[in-house]
Parts: sequence; structure tokens; C-alpha cells
Amino acid sequence: MLTLDDAGTAEDLAKVWGRRPHVFRNAMPRPVFEATDFFSGVVATAQAMLNGQSKPTGRLALNGKSTSIDEALSFIPRSHIQSFEQYEEQIRESFRDKEFSIILDNVDVALPNIRKRVSPFMHSLFKHVGYPVRGIHSCVYAGNYASTPFGIHMDDCHVIMTAGIGRKTVAFWPREYFEHRRDLMIPGSMAHIQAKVSDHIDDAVVLEIGPLDLLYWPAGYWHVGISDAKDFHAALSIGIYHKGNAAGIVKDAVALPPVANANSGLPSYDSLDMDGIKISATNAPAVSMAPQRFTDMWNEVRAGMLSENAAEIAYLKHTLSTITSVGFGPPVLESPGAIQHMAGVAIGDSRFLAWQNVADTTVVASHGLLFEFRSNPDEINALFLKIKRGEETSFTEIAAFVPTERLHDLWAFIVNGGLLRTS
Ligand SMILES: [Fe+2]
Repeated sequence: MLTLDDAGTAEDLAKVWGRRPHVFRNAMPRPVFEATDFFSGVVATAQAMLNGQSKPTGRLALNGKSTSIDEALSFIPRSHIQSFEQYEEQIRESFRDKEFSIILDNVDVALPNIRKRVSPFMHSLFKHVGYPVRGIHSCVYAGNYASTPFGIHMDDCHVIMTAGIGRKTVAFWPREYFEHRRDLMIPGSMAHIQAKVSDHIDDAVVLEIGPLDLLYWPAGYWHVGISDAKDFHAALSIGIYHKGNAAGIVKDAVALPPVANANSGLPSYDSLDMDGIKISATNAPAVSMAPQRFTDMWNEVRAGMLSENAAEIAYLKHTLSTITSVGFGPPVLESPGAIQHMAGVAIGDSRFLAWQNVADTTVVASHGLLFEFRSNPDEINALFLKIKRGEETSFTEIAAFVPTERLHDLWAFIVNGGLLRTS
């Protein structure tokens, strides 16, 4: 559990949701993360970035500006560094008298325990206010900076924040407060203003939190982190992107052909089949020259969109994945190993499992991961109902409805989707 009473705190949070910032004082039995966790998060993030993985990532700043490569290297824990205290010393020695910030993005990937602890509370909250269409994003803001480097701003996400190390103070103003101050708007950025915090602090609601408190503020609320001390502080921020649009879901659902990344190596050379546009004598590109690959890709995308119930299934995939992961999305996939046919299949908390039928297809989601059964909807329904009620079944029972060539995919879904009975 995140809080001493997840259901009760979620109900109270729902009452201020979208209205105003609020602190739930001493709501948690212990901090969501501590100094040692933060240090593990830094190590895991640095390793992932050095290995070129897409998640998790980090961002660094010195005196409010992004770091150069040389400066960034000084943030990487040196080989002899074993603890948070040693790491803090390394940073302070490297950047004396400078304000630094370390942002760990997708920190739920670097520190899976954060996701485990936060998710049940989110289910309780989203039962009241609805699940976020655009999901949630968790990061840790750490450093010794006095004020949020980019100043007073607003975000389009609701935020839940806890302080892991030190205390965190945030100043808030309602949207109307700066709404008509065109003189303060930064051209091109509706969400940032160039106002001095000290000019407006008397009108602000200032809230301070310690490691056991939970702070909430609504989307579209002006805010800035402030602090007097030069001490190291680190806070977990969970951005809840509640509003979304249909275009975003369509874009995610349509399996467009992958575009090769720049500098991704020689394999990408293979995709340069459209290098140079040839023109005919009339100075126009000849239609007959459309490369075969272009036409094939087009037809493939169209076939996917025209298949039976494609729109319903695409929408289901998005919503079921969101609901069963509280917006975190699927977990990082691990190699599932060899199939164990007699392995038990069960779910710990039934809120992380959901499914829906569309004609003969059943889309099943567990902890954000998806699997599509393409036949026997009634039997699949009965089977997952059994699992959701807390009963156990075996892999073999489910595998009976899946063709042999898809068994490995099913096994990967069971393992990575947290459906393998472990004890
Ligand atoms: Fe913000």
C-alpha cells in the first residue's frame, strides 16, 4: 500500500481532484523511496543510457542549463562509489557552488518497486475520477537548486508528489491568476511565464511536504518548486495525463512501418530504397516509379485498418492496457524462458486483469500487457473469469485455445504479464 488507507485517501483526493492543491499530511507509513533507492535509480538509469536503451532516461542541469557531455560524465557514479552519501560527495566536489538538478525519467522502470507500491492506490483513485487517457509518467526531481530551473509554469497533467529525500516546497497560483497577464507570457509558450517568484509569492498558496506526506495539484495550475536551503532534495512526481484525444489513440493503434533511426548501423542502409527522386522529361516524378516497397507498405497498413472490427479492437487494446496498468503501460519485457506447460496461472490483485470480446476475438490485458485470442470467446471468458475470481488454472488449459505457432507468445504474455503463480 502507498498510504495508510488507500481507499480513504483516494476518496479524499477525488474530492479536491481538478479543484485545488492539497497535502495529505502523514498519509504514508514510510517514504516511497529513500536515499539508497535514489542511488540505485541513478545507477540503473546511467547504465541504461550508456547501453543505448530507450528507457529509463535522465536529464541533467547545472545552474538551470542542460549539461555538456563532459559535465554529464561527472554525474555518472565512479566505480568506487557504493552509496548515496559517497555519490552526493562526488557531485558536490565536481560542481562546487553550482546548482545542479538530476531528473530520472520513467523512474518506475529503474525502480520497479515504485510502480508496485503506487499502482494499487492509483486503482482506488481512478475508480472515482476515471483512468487517464494518456497514461501516467513518473520521475524523480533531485538536486540542490533553490527554484524549479524553468520558473513558474503549468503542466497538462495532474500531479501527485512525495518527497523522498529532504523536504519539498511548492508555490501555487490558480489558472486565472496569470491567465490575462499577457505582459508576463513567454511568446510561443502558453505554459510558461516570465514572472519573478518574489513578486507574486504573497498571493500564492505555499505547501511544504516531508517524506510521509502526499501532495496533489490539478492540471493547469501554475506552480514552482522553491526552497531556501542548499541541501540535497529529491521528490517523486507522478504526472497523470487524464485528458487525451482520439488522434493520439489512432496514431498509437495504426501499425505504421518502422522508420530506421539515423546512425542505427548498416541495417538501416537497406531502407534507403527511396534515395533520390527521379523525374521524367516533363519534370514530374513518374507514378510508375513509385517503389514497390512504398506500395506494399501502404497496402499493408490499409489491410490492417480494414480488417474486421479493427477500430473496436484498437480502442480496446488502448483502454484495457491503460486500465490494467493504471496508465504505466506494459512492463519492460524479459525473456520468458522455456514453456512450462504445467505452470500455475493466477492473478494477485484482480484489478490488474481485464478482457473484452469483439465477435470471435478476445483482447486480454494483464498489468498493461496484451494478448489476442482469436477463437472460442465463451471458453476464454469462462477461463479468465475463473482467474479473476482468484482461482488458479494451468498454462495448458489456456494453451488449448491457441495454435501451436503462438504458444511462445502466450507464454511470454503469462510470464511478463505477472500471471505466473509464483509461490
Ligand atoms: Fe511542473
